[in-house]
Amino acid sequence: MPYTDRNLAHAVDPDRDVMQFAEADTMRAKSMQERLIVGLDVPTLKEAEKAVRELEGAVSFYKIGYQLAFAGGLDFARELASGGIKVFLDMKLLDIDNTVAKGVENIVRMGVTMLTLHAYPKTMKAAVEAAKGSELCLLGVTVLTSMDEQDMIDAGYEYDPHTLVLRRSEQALHAGMGGIVCSAEEAEAVRRIVGPDMAVVTPGIRPAGSDHGDQKRVVTPAQAIRNGSSHLVVGRPVVAAPDRRAAAEAILAEMRSA
Ligand code: C5P
Repeated sequence: MPYTDRNLAHAVDPDRDVMQFAEADTMRAKSMQERLIVGLDVPTLKEAEKAVRELEGAVSFYKIGYQLAFAGGLDFARELASGGIKVFLDMKLLDIDNTVAKGVENIVRMGVTMLTLHAYPKTMKAAVEAAKGSELCLLGVTVLTSMDEQDMIDAGYEYDPHTLVLRRSEQALHAGMGGIVCSAEEAEAVRRIVGPDMAVVTPGIRPAGSDHGDQKRVVTPAQAIRNGSSHLVVGRPVVAAPDRRAAAEAILAEMRSA
């Protein structure tokens, strides 16, 4: 299903300037918080719980990926979701259609908001069918933000990252996916393909001057918003910061300034 979020629709609505300034500012502040997804890429459940406590009130959307999933993170995802906190389960599924479909059916029961799978046409079709009638937003991972042109050649692809991202975005749209995961470098071009309703979720976010780590296609928080990202995924710049709350608030301030 398309990711239809009223606040998000305002955020990408070209007519939003007609709103009253005060109302627009409040909505923008609220919607920016809903658009920041913090990656709980920490080694233990204890550390994840600590991070969520430290970020309470500032962050309302968390991503749980491989690291935490294999350390009790799936139960933690259920717990957060049942407490009203949005969870993005970053499982990057890819398998035969039947296996993907059965996995998605069970994930639907977890109550999470978003789930990733690799944006292969058959995989997306199987997942969309399995999630039909649910609120789960399925996201197609186009090309990992840690990959550049040479990495694509090494992996046997004929396409450069940008071309493959656009091709897979179009395939995701036709498969009925809820959104796309790509670099914010590609968000503008992706937005033109998928239209205003689909989520365009961008990892590889780095505030100016911060360490890139293994990420190659990186963009600052403000630029990502300007490029049309609906949601920004930020891991290490928040969870590895000495003051996580201050780091998240600085990123939110930058998003709001965009
Ligand atoms: O620490 P950092 O901000 O680089 O974390 C980005 C997060 O987004 C990681 O959890 C990574 O697995 C995830 N991700 C990504 N690129 C994608 C999809 C997900 O970096 N294409």
